[in-house]
Amino acid sequence: MTMDPAQQIQELTQRVALLEEELMRAQRLSSVGALASSITHEFNNILTTVINYAKMGLRHPDEAMRTKSFDRILTASQRAARITTGMLSYARNTSARIEPADLKRLLEDVLVLVQKDLQMHRITVDLQASGSVWAMANSSQVQQLLMNLIVNARQAMKENGRLRLVVRDNAADGWAEIVVADSGCGIPQDKLPHIFDSFYTTKQPDERGQGGTGLGLALCRRIIEAHKGRIRVESEPGKGTIFTVKLPRSESPAGFVTTSPQAVAG
Ligand SMILES: Nc1ncnc2c1ncn2[C@@H]1O[C@H](COP(=O)(O)OP(=O)(O)OP(=O)(O)O)[C@@H](O)[C@H]1O
Ligand SMILES: [Mg+2]
Repeated sequence: MTMDPAQQIQELTQRVALLEEELMRAQRLSSVGALASSITHEFNNILTTVINYAKMGLRHPDEAMRTKSFDRILTASQRAARITTGMLSYARNTSARIEPADLKRLLEDVLVLVQKDLQMHRITVDLQASGSVWAMANSSQVQQLLMNLIVNARQAMKENGRLRLVVRDNAADGWAEIVVADSGCGIPQDKLPHIFDSFYTTKQPDERGQGGTGLGLALCRRIIEAHKGRIRVESEPGKGTIFTVKLPRSESPAGFVTTSPQAVAG
């Protein structure tokens, strides 16, 4: 019972496609793993707030104090809910559909998860996005791309770095663009051609044995290819790195009205 070569090739091609999908999923989860400690930290803070205000409300039964306590508890729990919802949808969402998606919204969802990590490293975030920017995109893949770029940027910066995030609609050229720029260590000229290769990493394992796998940017490149987009990197050692991603832009879908600041003012 030998398979003919054509059949064998078809079978192997299918297996490769399945393994690539599996790899993509594993990488999604490992990028969330990089945030585990900061997210645990944040949950601890939220719980402390909830416990303290619950005690306070019980101890001071006057109306004003109780209302204030409930208010604080509600705000803290809502923050926790946003994080868990974000985590679950980030880890689970694997549809392959490409449809109009608002890049600003996707970026904000990723920021909910990375915010604490950035804050713990005293990184200033400069977000430049005036309104919705629509692209033909697969939301979960673009979130994975943003997560990888932002986690890389964070890892390249010491304390007090600056992360600049731009989302803009380049209607003239037909692109929806995202810029992720850091003030980190930069990438030497001779290393630049390798950064998108699978398993290329310069990150040494830390005390828990967790180093880079070198898959983050390789998957970013695949995601960009699947979107027929572009990715460009400019870097200066000691100064920082700028990644520019271009995805095919889309008109805002029916039912969505994009109001520019001028339109509101006028
Ligand atoms: N913003 C950046 N600043 C400096 N170097 C970078 C930056 N982004 C990527 N690099 C370099 O490119 C290499 C490859 O990045 P990539 O995200 O593919 O892998 P990794 O971050 O090392 O590991 P993983 O993403 O799998 O945890 C990094 O090891 C680093 O040397
Ligand atoms: Mg990485």
